[in-house]
Amino acid sequence: MKKRPFTVGSLKPNTVSSAPLNPSPSPIPKAHPIPKLPNPSKPKILFSQSKSSFSVDPQRNRTLLDAALEQGQNVEYKCTKGSCGRCTVRISNGQALLSRPNEKEKEKLKQAVGEGYRLACQAIIL
Ligand code: FES
Repeated sequence: MKKRPFTVGSLKPNTVSSAPLNPSPSPIPKAHPIPKLPNPSKPKILFSQSKSSFSVDPQRNRTLLDAALEQGQNVEYKCTKGSCGRCTVRISNGQALLSRPNEKEKEKLKQAVGEGYRLACQAIIL
């Protein structure tokens, strides 16, 4: 014997309802893509070169120059060996996320190293 679903009408004498008790669920609406918001807990490295300012997500064991270029930043550079000085930047935030200045930076930048200047091709992100 085939079971019939109970409906409100099935409780009334001499009535039969064809509506199922649990109609099929309505389709789930399509989700809109969630916009990518900056993660406030993840610090960025902020620096400037000439009159341009840059913001870079830290990428461990990469040079600041490599990370910046991979993230589409238009940082000037030439030799990538710490000798030309073209990649000199001034760090305004995130100095602690970088390696200590190496001998090439100290030699090229002299006392500017102590004022937040770095060679982006030599500064390693920790
Ligand atoms: S690109 Fe020449 S010192 Fe960095």
